[in-house]
Amino acid sequence: MQHLSKLPDVSTTIFTIMSGLANEHRALNLSQGFPNYPSSKKLNNLVTNAMNNGYNQYAPMAGNLDLLLAISNKYQLLYESTYHPEKEITVTAGATQAIYTIVSAFIRPNDEVLIFKPAYDCYEPAVEVNGGKTIPIQLFAPDYKVDWSEVASKISSRTKMVMINSPHNPSGTIWSKDDMLQLQKLTKGTNIIVLSDEVYEHIVFDGEQHQSACLFEDLKQRSFITASFGKTFHNTGWKIGYCCAPDYLMSEFRKVHQFNVFSVHHPAQKGIADYMLDAETYLGLNSFFQQKRDLFLSLISESRFKFKPSKGTYFQVLDYSEITDKYDVDFAKQLTKDFGIASIPLSVFNENDKDDKVLRFCFAKTDDTLVKAAEILNRI
Ligand SMILES: Cc1ncc(COP(=O)(O)O)c(C=O)c1O
Repeated sequence: MQHLSKLPDVSTTIFTIMSGLANEHRALNLSQGFPNYPSSKKLNNLVTNAMNNGYNQYAPMAGNLDLLLAISNKYQLLYESTYHPEKEITVTAGATQAIYTIVSAFIRPNDEVLIFKPAYDCYEPAVEVNGGKTIPIQLFAPDYKVDWSEVASKISSRTKMVMINSPHNPSGTIWSKDDMLQLQKLTKGTNIIVLSDEVYEHIVFDGEQHQSACLFEDLKQRSFITASFGKTFHNTGWKIGYCCAPDYLMSEFRKVHQFNVFSVHHPAQKGIADYMLDAETYLGLNSFFQQKRDLFLSLISESRFKFKPSKGTYFQVLDYSEITDKYDVDFAKQLTKDFGIASIPLSVFNENDKDDKVLRFCFAKTDDTLVKAAEILNRI
């Protein structure tokens, strides 16, 4: 039997391709966004304790209450923003599931969803499989600044959702307070839902502040914020995240969530809740990753790659236009096979595969790996 694909343009992701190639050629893998150092022993022990202390049956649908409280307290502490722990926060199987469930709870056929490109790769398929239509807004290297008059021109009565992501994967840029105010102004008085993907909220450099959607009262009233403990606590394989939103949005989200995922890994939730009692576990991330960024960039300062230091996330984009004019996918493959270093070509996140001769490197790696990576990049 033949079935018409609901996602005819989706094939193997570039992450799978580059990691596969990295394994095959025993290359340093700075492509996929995950650390190559261990998750904290203290956190691992807290999860083990939770297993040994009876947290082995279904968690409540919205999440373990201690974790919901820990998340709610975090928003109060960092942003003086209130989310009701039992009504306005839901623990999910990673941010990806939160994003998919938000889209499927609200997007109907032909609804339009504004997406800024380069965009993280799970946004578009989630919209399409639910019958929606993505409206791309291409941002340009090296600053990836938003032209708000273009955004205004693309908003119409068909616009149901705007997806934003700061700190931004893959560019490592962050949105300013003014960007958020512009978005707030454009969506005010509309029914548009904002999906603010904030998985890198705790990785912002040079003393800048993360501009969470919850800091802007009108935006907050129409926004879902999505977050990922995998990114925050160096264990992407655990696939635990959450989303928060005002009650009237969250109750719709939960109608889908309860029949799709229902609830997520209980002992990990309890362990994370206990770990978060010490706010330093997430507040220390900025300086932890800034040191890694600075080490990596100082080591490659004499290389032929050009860069602007990443302002957030654990990604650094490098411009190789002085080295070659090869298509970025081909160049990334060549670096993996011939030089032993894997990265992600940015064109795969762009509209029409726009190629700016830019590669993304993940610096959530041991210092030793970063030194080795720099040695290779300096030889290219
Ligand atoms: C911008 C962005 N959003 C969402 C995710 C997915 O997070 P999770 O692993 O918690 O599903 C990632 C992971 O790379 C990401 O970079």
